[in-house]
Amino acid sequence: MRKKVIAGNWKMNLTLEEGVSLASEVVNIAKDELTSDVTMVLCTPAIHMAAVSKLTAEVANVHVGAQNISEHESGAYTGDISADMALSTGAEFVIIGHSERREYHFETNAQLAARVELALAKGLTPLFCCGESLETREAGDHVSFVTKQLEESLYQLSAEQMEKVVIAYEPIWAIGTGVTASTEQAQEMHKSIREALASKFGAEVAEKISILYGGSMKPGNAPELLAQPDVDGGLIGGASLKSRDFIDIAKSY
Ligand code: PGA
Repeated sequence: MRKKVIAGNWKMNLTLEEGVSLASEVVNIAKDELTSDVTMVLCTPAIHMAAVSKLTAEVANVHVGAQNISEHESGAYTGDISADMALSTGAEFVIIGHSERREYHFETNAQLAARVELALAKGLTPLFCCGESLETREAGDHVSFVTKQLEESLYQLSAEQMEKVVIAYEPIWAIGTGVTASTEQAQEMHKSIREALASKFGAEVAEKISILYGGSMKPGNAPELLAQPDVDGGLIGGASLKSRDFIDIAKSY
């Protein structure tokens, strides 16, 4: 059985006070209502991680994640946070290679490869993001584009390392736009990601890897997306800022 993961990406939203209040709502509702074996992750701004970790420590299936880490261990990298810093707050996961970071911070596949390796070496679970632009999809190149992202950032891993990575397929055209990939588009891509992983790491490894869908996932469209055989969860932006919506997505499994 693959792990079901519902991760919230708060992006650059909420003051510390607002973030703590949202996290405590999520934790309280999760305690009362979450009966399934879903792993929930709150990927908060770095500023919030320590305080939110104290709250999530009260429930077994809600965890904290960072939105990024440096590929360097420590040193003169103003503004960055290290894997050790993230771990020291109680974070257990880290988003790597979100399309907004690839676009606005020019993160390269090679840099992301180094971050994935460092995260794994330190014991953080990488939530590795991939996904194509609208232009790439319209040109019919989405499968090869995403496969290249996987090749250049993940194929250097051993099978043992790869099993610990969670993948998030996030078509850029569906992020924050209200346009969701159709269930067929999501399933097609998730299946092709799993096939690519199977050809590189073996079918047994590929079967164990959770592949999340991200891009305008909401309580209304989550049940259908999550019912697809190769969709193992979601990476949720906008809807993760509302405790009710976020929990309802997790409950739709
Ligand atoms: P969205 O964001 O749910 O607001 O589309 C998803 C993401 O960027 O991870």
